[in-house]
Amino acid sequence: MTSIVLYCRPGFEKECGAEIQEKASWNEMYGYLELLKNQGIVFFHLQESEHGEALMRKLPLKRLVFTRQWFVTLTEKITLPDYNRVEAITEALGNQCQYADLRMEMPDTNDGKALSKFCRKLAVPLRQALRKEKSLSEKGDKDGAILHALFLSGQEVILGFSLHENNSPHVMGIPRLRFPNQSPSRSTLKLDEAFLFFIPKSEWGHRLTSGMNAVDLGSAPGGWTYQLVRRGMMVTAVDNGPMAESLMQTGQVKHKMMDGFKYIPMKQNVYWLVCDMIEKPTRVAKLMADWLLNGYCKEAIFNLKLPMKGRYQQVNKDLQLMKDEFLKHNVKYELYAKHLYYDREEVTVHARLLSPLPQKEL
Ligand SMILES: C[S@@+](CC[C@H](N)C(=O)[O-])C[C@H]1O[C@@H](n2cnc3c(N)ncnc32)[C@H](O)[C@@H]1O
Repeated sequence: MTSIVLYCRPGFEKECGAEIQEKASWNEMYGYLELLKNQGIVFFHLQESEHGEALMRKLPLKRLVFTRQWFVTLTEKITLPDYNRVEAITEALGNQCQYADLRMEMPDTNDGKALSKFCRKLAVPLRQALRKEKSLSEKGDKDGAILHALFLSGQEVILGFSLHENNSPHVMGIPRLRFPNQSPSRSTLKLDEAFLFFIPKSEWGHRLTSGMNAVDLGSAPGGWTYQLVRRGMMVTAVDNGPMAESLMQTGQVKHKMMDGFKYIPMKQNVYWLVCDMIEKPTRVAKLMADWLLNGYCKEAIFNLKLPMKGRYQQVNKDLQLMKDEFLKHNVKYELYAKHLYYDREEVTVHARLLSPLPQKEL
């Protein structure tokens, strides 16, 4: 049997599972779920073995909100002996294919962290053995498939592969970002990660660059504003709460102490709208669609805070609301949502319109 293994934030296995099952069924591929609760790991066991790779080829990982990384299994769970573990792994893999790289992975939990030392030690002889067997390329061919070894414990591993054009470039889908000491809050990492995830670096020159105007709704104390300021933007920060003095001293920030739902920019020269207000997600989604459709901004990145229950349904409902608004106004759009690594009980959304508003709307 073939399975797809999906990584998500621990505690979100139900959402991750519901999403893959639903999106696979749109492609007429069916299977059942096995959730490793609070370990951030979901197995989707497919009814037809060829559907594992077929689904990975059809469904863009970027479209899965709750999945950080995924791979198709090549083996069942392998029980490792106390000695000769490398041999046990290479034997189970066989040498029918050559992979571009090896990722040693483990659950994103405290137990998983304890395994990372063991994995680091094993990685060196395992790589050497795989290269000898011609299962791993010598130079790291950048277009080849990636071999994943997921260690569920020191005694149990499962092997699989992902496609370089449809996987996360990060081990376990986790980008490790450095917290900038000058930022007034840790939330800053969320917007840093969002820019990296949603905006291709090759386009930063015209979509994320100095001199642009930005609005930050729900800005205090200023972690998100800091990300805009450090990229050379002029920011209007809207929040009744106080902004960090260090940001105000840059001369790049204007602070409006008012309700973010009532603020309207005076000039239509705002490129970025970012929003981290703690509010009902549907209200935020509606506001973001209004800003884009009114031409108040060109692109928006915002968080939808999730309720305790029905989190997958809530995200779908709010994204659908935005799509319906865009369709009603006959505009093409780009809309992606992701449960980013630095997100907690929220998802991050990026939206922009790709076609101008029809003349009658202006
Ligand atoms: C999670 S904090 C924002 C943190 C900020 N992004 C940062 O990185 O420092 C949420 C903020 O939203 C603000 N907020 C909530 N409702 C708001 C509203 N209706 N208008 C303006 N700000 C609001 C709160 O005052 C709070 O400062």
